[in-house]
Amino acid sequence: MLSEQTKAIIKSTVPVLEVHGTAITTTFYRNLFEAHPELLNIFNHANQAKGRQQAALANTVYGAALHIDNLEAILPAVVQIANKHVSLGVKAEHYPIVGEFLLKAIKEVLGDAATDDIINAWAEAYGVIAAAFIGVENDMYEKMASQENGWSFFKGFTVARKVKESENITSFYLKPSDGANVPAYKPGQYISVRLAIPGEKYLFNRQYSLSQAVKPDEFRISVKRDADNDPNGRVSIYLHDEINVGDAIEVSAPAGEFVLDTTKQTPVAFVSGGVGITPMMSMFETVATMTPERPTMFLHAARNETLHAFDEAIQSYAASMPNASYKTLYSDQPQGYITRDVLKEMVDVTGDVYVCGPVPFMESMIQELRVLGMTDEQIHFEFFGPAVAIQTI
Ligand code: HEM
Repeated sequence: MLSEQTKAIIKSTVPVLEVHGTAITTTFYRNLFEAHPELLNIFNHANQAKGRQQAALANTVYGAALHIDNLEAILPAVVQIANKHVSLGVKAEHYPIVGEFLLKAIKEVLGDAATDDIINAWAEAYGVIAAAFIGVENDMYEKMASQENGWSFFKGFTVARKVKESENITSFYLKPSDGANVPAYKPGQYISVRLAIPGEKYLFNRQYSLSQAVKPDEFRISVKRDADNDPNGRVSIYLHDEINVGDAIEVSAPAGEFVLDTTKQTPVAFVSGGVGITPMMSMFETVATMTPERPTMFLHAARNETLHAFDEAIQSYAASMPNASYKTLYSDQPQGYITRDVLKEMVDVTGDVYVCGPVPFMESMIQELRVLGMTDEQIHFEFFGPAVAIQTI
């Protein structure tokens, strides 16, 4: 438990740290990777280049410090981040390293203003926050490893099939290389893919939603090929252009909290934009096979027909479900956007809605669904990418 004095110091210094946020986090990562270049095998190099993760980690530490009396209150945010961490193989032994370099960066940037009292208070607070993360993550690793056919960390898989779904989305069917089955994941969960790309010094990790209902012996991910000049595109372009049937890929165990509640029979709506359709496919297929009578609506936004994935599959599932409807809007065409009116017409606001897509799309959908009277308990979403975790703390 932190003393009252320590807490007072933390509370009074958070605004100061926020003012110097960019300087502290830039210093932190520069020194961290200089001393521990092996951590570049875990961190996303493109996020580093764009400065996104920089902000996420440190801001979350500051945010959590403000709730130090009641870390329970931010548990949902901790759990979401912890899912990401375990999917990437972050371990307890990494925490003291990150803590050491965060404190050193605070000291370096604040100079004399960072008194011993301030540094000691932050060391203590970081210890409490790190312990909360480590506890949650250890439980997750244990659960993953003890699940039937489960594992923790990474496991060797082989590409069994590669199927083009649209002009820029291709599915990869992945089977464990040791011939084992896969664990029963929850629809909406994701995996990390870890790749050694020839000519690159460090490994690359990316998360992809599992895009089909649970199958005993395989996973499917469906990857959008990023533009050639996108710094984040190194992995998706490599997967599309270089990875073929028979190739090996390392995969982490399924993780994530953006999942379908399969126990419900009440109306459910899936609203997706672009490649945000992938977790929806897993959820929709699950409803179609487990609870086909459930009132279900699938609303999708794509730029145009050539970029529209899974159309036939959704149509054929919807045709076999007595209470399902499906509509796609193309934004390249007039009136091609999902507006409040479209949502009003299609979504049963007494049920649950799952939303996934690019950040501006999601923000707009969530706002409109709230205007239509849906509560936060009914609207399920997960932002991908680190920029947004900050908002939840
Ligand atoms: C992602 C916070 C410790 C490695 C994140 C995110 C947050 C965060 C907010 C973004 C989550 C998202 O994308 O949804 C924290 C906090 C920590 C901590 C508060 C300490 C208390 C660590 C440690 C490591 C680590 C010890 C491992 C060395 C990563 C990685 C990502 C990530 C690799 C994914 C983003 C990327 O690759 O740039 N963390 N983290 N974190 N964290 Fe942490």
